[in-house]
Amino acid sequence: MISTLTHGIKIVTSPIHPPIFPLSHTAVRNCVGRAVLNCYNRSMSELLLLNGPNLGILGRREPEIYGTDTLDDIVAAVGAEVAERGWKVVSVQRESEGQLIEAVHDAYEGVGAIVNPGALMIAGWGLRDALAAYPRPWIEVHLSNVWARETFRHESVLAPIASGVIVGLGSLGYRLAAQALLAKVPRP
Ligand code: DQA
Repeated sequence: MISTLTHGIKIVTSPIHPPIFPLSHTAVRNCVGRAVLNCYNRSMSELLLLNGPNLGILGRREPEIYGTDTLDDIVAAVGAEVAERGWKVVSVQRESEGQLIEAVHDAYEGVGAIVNPGALMIAGWGLRDALAAYPRPWIEVHLSNVWARETFRHESVLAPIASGVIVGLGSLGYRLAAQALLAKVPRP
């Protein structure tokens, strides 16, 4: 049975599994019938790897600053870090803030997130609000050492609400963020 509470939060009760599972509107919409429970269990092991504008072209984007690893390399490296825990990496890279916000909304039932907002670090207030409401731990990552670069990169509107921030370590930063989440998220 699915009943609606406020703010689009759904309570799903299963005759097989009496515990109550809160699912977001989107999650319920994406799960049909008996698949709802499976969908919930799958979501509970998903790690969101969120990358903002211009990060889909890593590897050929200013390699002297961002390195030669592609986003696919990074997804694979993060996946290898978390495989032992049974987590699955859900990689979302978008050029626009609205789509990144939607990805955060869709990830409420996951284990946590690694977020490189790209230039949205500077004034991505909508993304900040989405992450402020995100109920899981998340780590902000920047490949480059933003404090050693132009002054407009010295402030992140997201950093004050992140669980932690890693900058300047290249693609290694994503792997370290994955390790941090493994340490922060208790085993079931
Ligand atoms: C970046 C740093 C940002 O200032 C820049 O706009 C990016 C990449 C990094 O990973 O170093 O797009 O987030």
